[in-house]
Order: sequence, then C-alpha cells, then structure tokens
Amino acid sequence: MRPLENRLAFITGASAGIGAATARALTEAGARVVLTARRADRLRAIAAELPGAETLELDVRDHAAVARALEPYDVDILVANAGLAYGSEPLQEGDPEEWSTVIDTNVKGVLNTIRPVLPRMIERGHGDIVLLGSVAGRQVYPGGNVYCATKFAVQAVYEALRLDAAGKGLRFTNIEPAMVETDFTVVRFRGDEERARAVYEGMTPLTPADVADAIVYAVTRPPHVNIGEIVLWPTDQASTTVVRRDA
Ligand SMILES: NC(=O)c1ccc[n+]([C@@H]2O[C@H](COP(=O)([O-])OP(=O)(O)OC[C@H]3O[C@@H](n4cnc5c(N)ncnc54)[C@H](OP(=O)(O)O)[C@@H]3O)[C@@H](O)[C@H]2O)c1
Repeated sequence: MRPLENRLAFITGASAGIGAATARALTEAGARVVLTARRADRLRAIAAELPGAETLELDVRDHAAVARALEPYDVDILVANAGLAYGSEPLQEGDPEEWSTVIDTNVKGVLNTIRPVLPRMIERGHGDIVLLGSVAGRQVYPGGNVYCATKFAVQAVYEALRLDAAGKGLRFTNIEPAMVETDFTVVRFRGDEERARAVYEGMTPLTPADVADAIVYAVTRPPHVNIGEIVLWPTDQASTTVVRRDA
C-alpha cells in the first residue's frame, strides 16, 4: 500500500511549477488530488495524467468562492501554494495595485484557503496543512519589499496556526524554498522571459520536483511527528543575495 492511499489532497496554484509537481508527487504516493488555480485549461492538461484527479477553477483571493469550492471535500492534506511576486523595484517605485494583488494572493489567499478547512480537520482530529513560505520570509533582499513582507506573514500565519490549533491532532508545515526555476520569475518580471532566464544563469536552481519531494516527506511521517519547517537551498545559493555562478 502506498503511504497516502485513501487521503485527499487539495492544492492551490496547481496549474504550474511547485503546485503541479506536488500534485504529481502526492498522486504517486497514493493520494487523490484536487488541483485548483485560475487557468482551468492548464489544470485539465496536468490532471489528465493523474489517476483520480479533479480540477477546479479557483481564485484564492475570493474567500466566498474558496469556501464553496472546499465544501464537498474532507481534506486530509491542504497545500496552500498559490502565490506570486511582481517586480523587484525599490519600494518608492512600487505600484500599489500590484501590491494589492500580491498581498491578497499570498496572505489573504492563504487565510481564505485554510479557514474553511480547519473546523472539519479539528472535528476529525487529524489533517496536514502545508504552507508555501520562502527564504524570502527569513531574509529580505533588495527589491524584495512587498513579496518578502507577504512571506514573513506566511511564517507568522504558520506559527499562529500551531498555537491556535494546538492539541487538536493537526500538523502544520511551512516549506521555505530558495531559488526554484518555475514561471514565478516570468510572472515577477511581467512576462519578460529573457530577464527571467538570466536569474538562473550559471547556477543550478531547485526544481519544482525537489520541493514536491520535501512536501511528500513532511506528510508521510508517522502521525506523532510534525515536520514544522523545511528550508531548501540550491547548493549554489548561500543566502538570498549570495549565489555562486559559473564565470
Ligand atoms: N519559484 C521560486 O523560486 C519560489 C521560491 C520560494 C517560494 N515560492 C512560492 O511557491 C509558490 C508557487 O510558486 P511557483 O514557483 O510554483 O510559481 P508559478 O510556477 O508561477 O506557479 C504559481 C501558481 O499560483 C497560481 N496562482 C497565482 N495567483 C493565483 C490566484 N489569485 N488564485 C489561484 N491561484 C493563483 C498560478 O495559477 P493561475 O495563474 O493559473 O491562477 C500558479 O499555478 C508561491 O507561493 C511562491 O511564492 C517560489
């Protein structure tokens, strides 16, 4: 029997990158997955290769829609992964409209997703909630301002959950990767693919599968073991500002 047989996993931001890789890895470990994101066509293409997978078009900023989407499911594993950044300008050059999108997705989106799942997990006395933090939630870097603020907030939400749901049998895990090569950087640079590619030039970043592997590790421990935080660095990256690159 595979370790996650008979478990239901609900993943936000599953149309790309880490979320899609996590859907694949959790399916491989035996879970039935529900893939959610805004781009339904991409979700369907990914789910087509995953036995038993379902897809739902969902914007995590819409708390009522998120609560409705979760209603039919007894979620065993929630992966609150949807997130994004815009730009790397200094704060004085930032765009408040973009800040709202980033804060609403990365902070309120996480809260919107976790809120409806908690009472049912508490009632059942078990459940895994996995958050996608970042090393940007530990170390601020130049131009990271608002994105870093949202990932510091994810760390605070993770710590708050541990306290608010203490003794209820639930497990909380904050996954904190450094550089992972995904569409994240293309989105951050507003579609400029060349600029996004340059970020990883001459170094070996993490892959989405590396992060998915850490998530599977966390949720497949025995019930009395809660892996609290996993920080993943590429071997070539020493801090959010120090990266070894080929000459
Ligand atoms: N890549 C990195 O270096 C890195 C490092 C540390 C942490 N992270 C974190 O890892 C998570 C996943 O990022 P990624 O690297 O996999 O980036 P990605 O490839 O760009 O994927 C981001 C996912 O989030 C979804 N999303 C964005 N806004 C959404 C919204 N309002 N509602 C629902 N879904 C939304 C996107 O789907 P749709 O556009 O289809 O909605 C997409 O599936 C993020 O929280 C990110 O902050 C990334």
